[in-house]
Amino acid sequence: MMDLRGYEPTENLFKDRVILVTGATSGIGRAISRDLIIHGATVILHGRDEHSLEMLFQEFRELGPEPVVAQLDFALTQNNAYQKFAEELGSQFNKLDGLVHNAGMLGARTPIEHYDINLWQKVIQTNLSAPFALTQYLLPLLRLSEDASVLFTTSSVGNYGRAYWGAYCVSKFGIEGLAQMLADELGDTRIRVNCINPGGIRTKMRQAAYPTEDPNTLPLPETITGPYLYLLGPDSRGTTRKRINVKSE
Ligand SMILES: NC(=O)c1ccc[n+]([C@@H]2O[C@H](COP(=O)([O-])OP(=O)(O)OC[C@H]3O[C@@H](n4cnc5c(N)ncnc54)[C@H](OP(=O)(O)O)[C@@H]3O)[C@@H](O)[C@H]2O)c1
Repeated sequence: MMDLRGYEPTENLFKDRVILVTGATSGIGRAISRDLIIHGATVILHGRDEHSLEMLFQEFRELGPEPVVAQLDFALTQNNAYQKFAEELGSQFNKLDGLVHNAGMLGARTPIEHYDINLWQKVIQTNLSAPFALTQYLLPLLRLSEDASVLFTTSSVGNYGRAYWGAYCVSKFGIEGLAQMLADELGDTRIRVNCINPGGIRTKMRQAAYPTEDPNTLPLPETITGPYLYLLGPDSRGTTRKRINVKSE
């Protein structure tokens, strides 16, 4: 496969495409959303905080097609809220062309022996159960697209267990399993399903995971959007069940 870091979408590649990005209020999600809008997509900006979403909307509204905001706290929400969320999108749009599962929380960097059970459940809920529920309820809308892309975000600890990564590590293992299963189940549809591992990127989650690291040694999220845009746009038609590393591990 080509080096996707250098991928440059053509000017209006995402014209008439509707794409939901979860966790659009900061870090990687924010950078992907911005680039998608610039390249013509109508982006549904998801976040957990109303105020952050409003600020984001004001900042992005002039860049391309006007985005839409959608608020949901994945750590708190129960099943029927996901259904309602999907129904609201279904009443506003007649299809969904992309679903980027990007939102995530780190939890604690703690030995399993001492990991707080409530925090464990919150991390699994946010990083794994929420993407599952959202995907399930949005599948009917994804099926209405000419070619739809579901993208799950994994991590270097998503297929290699490393000490002290706790529920985060387990949630990312789960995401990779979910993505593989779903790709198989949707094999004869127009929906492709892939996983992406951004690698170490200069965001608040990375800073929390590695507090002593010099952030200036890491790439900014704005510099690594190429592989995301490739996997979301029509150039990746036919690519499914892949695990893409943005940076070489
Ligand atoms: N940065 C890295 O080095 C790295 C490496 C491997 C994988 N990843 C993955 O990349 C993805 C993006 O992370 P990032 O580095 O860009 O981190 P980030 O800057 O902390 O962004 C995380 C996003 O998820 C949202 N979020 C957190 N908890 C949520 C909840 N309970 N409900 C709804 N939204 C929630 C955050 O909302 P707020 O803005 O309100 O906080 C934020 O928009 C994550 O899935 C992460 O696991 C990152």
